Amino acid sequence: MIGSAERYTILLVDDDQAHRTMLKVNLAAEGYAVNELTDGDEVLPYLKDHEADLILLDMKMTRMDGLITLSVLLQAGFDIPVIVLTAFSSVESAVEAMKKGAYDYNSKPVDIEELKILIERALSFRSLSDENKLLKSRLKEEFSFANIIGKSPAMQRMFSTLTMVAPTDATVLITGESGTGKELIANALHQHSQRRDRPFVKLNCAALHENLLESELFGHEAGAFTGASGRRKGRFELANKGTLFLDEIGDMSLQTQAKILRVIQEGEFERLGGSETIKVDVRLLAATHKNLEEMIEEGTFRQDLYFRLSVVPVALPPLSERATDIPELANYFLSRFAEKNRKGIKDFHPEALNLLMQYEWPGNIRELENTIERGVILCLTEQITPQDLPPHLLSDEVRELQESNSQDGFTLRDMEREVIRSTLEKTGHNKSQAAKQLGVARQTLLNKIKEYGL
Ligand SMILES: Nc1ncnc2c1ncn2[C@@H]1O[C@H](COP(=O)(O)OP(=O)(O)OP(=O)(O)O)[C@@H](O)[C@H]1O
Ligand SMILES: [Mg+2]
Repeated sequence: MIGSAERYTILLVDDDQAHRTMLKVNLAAEGYAVNELTDGDEVLPYLKDHEADLILLDMKMTRMDGLITLSVLLQAGFDIPVIVLTAFSSVESAVEAMKKGAYDYNSKPVDIEELKILIERALSFRSLSDENKLLKSRLKEEFSFANIIGKSPAMQRMFSTLTMVAPTDATVLITGESGTGKELIANALHQHSQRRDRPFVKLNCAALHENLLESELFGHEAGAFTGASGRRKGRFELANKGTLFLDEIGDMSLQTQAKILRVIQEGEFERLGGSETIKVDVRLLAATHKNLEEMIEEGTFRQDLYFRLSVVPVALPPLSERATDIPELANYFLSRFAEKNRKGIKDFHPEALNLLMQYEWPGNIRELENTIERGVILCLTEQITPQDLPPHLLSDEVRELQESNSQDGFTLRDMEREVIRSTLEKTGHNKSQAAKQLGVARQTLLNKIKEYGL
């Protein structure tokens, strides 16, 4: 018996009134709410503004039979379990219905005890799959950040760290090679924090000389140094109540490091040339592509500052260590740049994707992004082919050939001819296969063969 707290609604669709009444009485006695419809064509309109947890569907009805109703339901995207009621003689239509996606069937005259068990099973199956869906959508929410792609285990681990640490005020030190997404992550941390409506201020510490950097960080009073005409607020002040992202923190002098350490420890500082002590409430994020531990050993980075910054260390893996993310990243950039350049490019030729997956990507995601942008601009068809990719992505063989010949005035035409020749050789002169490997139409290949006299 189903408790009233989990009262399920059953939609009963049958053109035989006596049969409907019999079922309704029995099912209502079990605690189900039962609604009735007299033919298949009423189901879809009904479901537009009514809920149902399960449908009991008669097969033979006058206006729209059960099979067609089932198809209509599926096409409309409903995934309500359906139990079909078939005449005892027509096993065929039961099989058909199961193939179409019915949950189960019961033959008429209905064995009410058996039907009750079927219903219960269908409903428990449904609540389980609902729960799974809910769980999945929650996982998705938690481990995905807008515009950050990464299904690889390494990235998923990182997302779970980000999820936990983003809402806190903890200082996060983001490390990783150039182009691995350090700035993107810093942005995401701020966006997912309580401070998201407050300023997000960034400063690239590598871009400025020591004095200028300090004046940018802490601000200055009029006349603090030559050229300092008026009073100016520094980034720490501008970031008050928000987040300050110090990029390339490894490129900071020991003197500036000491001043940063003081702000972290005491939450206060003075503007350059000023005596007033300024208090700020700033969450600090820092990033570097340098190995700070090595720098500590060399004596070029303060260990105490390092400990303060790396409360939560986030190390971004190089792209070559998460090659499984490449297809999704490539497609993401493809759709972005295709839209930007108003080009109807749909996807990658498998060979082009293969090249992308095999390449080492020393410049990481930024290099991939630039490569796809270039490919989109060069691409003349609906598909990015190997020809739209930079030559250094081609296989080692071809690249070596290119390099060894470059001094001798090896032209692009020579290269193309060489690639075609070696592909033909590899495929045993199977032109269709060679064309496929080269990512061109067979006719294009035939033209080239003629052109180069191969
Ligand atoms: N996981 C990702 N998903 C989508 N785009 C990404 C991802 N990681 C990085 N990018 C994109 O790659 C480019 C480089 O990222 P970002 O500038 O954050 O790297 P970085 O580590 O700060 O590099 P650098 O050390 O050179 O400053 C950006 O355009 C960024 O949007
Ligand atoms: Mg950066």
